[in-house]
Amino acid sequence: MASIVLENITKRFGKVTALDGVNLQIDDGEFIVLLGPSGSGKTTLMYLIAGIYRPTSGRILFDGKDVTNLSPKDRNVGLVFQNWALYPHMKVFENIAFPLTLKKMDKRTIQERVHQVASMLKIEALLERYPWQLSGGQQQRVAIARALVKQPQILLFDEPLSNLDALLRIGVRTELKRLQKNLSITSVYVTHDQAEALAIADRIAVINNGKLIQVGTPEEIYYQPKHTFVAGFVGNPPANLLTVESDGTRLTIDGKSLEAPIELLHRISNKRRFVLGFRPEKGVLLDHITENTVGIEVQIYEVESMGREQIVTVSIEQTMVKVLRPSEEKFHVGQKLFLCVEMKDLMLFDFDTNEALDLH
Ligand SMILES: Nc1ncnc2c1ncn2[C@@H]1O[C@H](COP(=O)(O)OP(=O)(O)OP(=O)(O)O)[C@@H](O)[C@H]1O
Ligand SMILES: [Mg+2]
Repeated sequence: MASIVLENITKRFGKVTALDGVNLQIDDGEFIVLLGPSGSGKTTLMYLIAGIYRPTSGRILFDGKDVTNLSPKDRNVGLVFQNWALYPHMKVFENIAFPLTLKKMDKRTIQERVHQVASMLKIEALLERYPWQLSGGQQQRVAIARALVKQPQILLFDEPLSNLDALLRIGVRTELKRLQKNLSITSVYVTHDQAEALAIADRIAVINNGKLIQVGTPEEIYYQPKHTFVAGFVGNPPANLLTVESDGTRLTIDGKSLEAPIELLHRISNKRRFVLGFRPEKGVLLDHITENTVGIEVQIYEVESMGREQIVTVSIEQTMVKVLRPSEEKFHVGQKLFLCVEMKDLMLFDFDTNEALDLH
């Protein structure tokens, strides 16, 4: 076990700034998920923690000890990557044992350790097979076993489940979370799948363009996004974000005018322009505007069934908004209704900085 501190980490590759002043503290035994789009710097950050890359500037500490210049083999970090290359000519047992064989550990200890992790990951019956005789999920568990057998103080996962089908992913991620908690190994897990991040993280670190945008529990990231990027990246569908003009008494959204609730004017400190966001499940579609809400006339554009729920896309004028409603409610394309969102469910952001105006 170990805590990790990333202190003002910048990493450049020539002219490309892959990471820009990243500060992050990860507690002993914590499961941190690094969430961000392609090219945002996730893998670069993993390689820095592993010691495969050196930062251009900044420091990395494990348990308060500066490891910035230690090589990977001196860091006691286990890695599980997307392309979990198992050695094809070695049986599962030898694959898992490999890191210990490299260290020239004695045969009996190797036997013990391999059987211990294999039983933990329920792959004991597979030890005499070759990798090509395994399913994708089994191969993945062998790769995790190989990382665990070293008894690392830190585990790094870089999109480990992206080669698995949707159902298998959900199964393996549950096991992974349990395993991580049982062993309480400090773990950093990279994904660009926001649903996966919400499901398994103790805390999520959202990264974009090499910068950490927000670090928080799944609930904080979902309900209190500090930036429009987080609101617009997390959730399925993600939050709706609308540009609003205000003249101090009325609001204009996409060319439509409506009365500004006093409470809202207060929350935006009478700004003339701001971004209004809300989660799709917080919108209701009614034939009238209800009290204590922001309501606006909309027209149904499309309805998509998702089984238990439906995604209803509505248009204000040019702007589309997505609302998540129970399947029992019936809508038809072209129908005119009022979209209402309760005041407490509104997320408000500064138009220029995209940062949250008030977090309650
Ligand atoms: N060795 C390198 N040389 C030059 N540029 C690099 C190198 N490695 C990464 N980059 C650049 O740094 C940025 C971050 O890359 P990184 O691989 O960390 O992204 P990522 O978040 O892991 O993306 P993905 O989700 O696609 O794996 C990208 O712009 C990438 O092109
Ligand atoms: Mg990557």
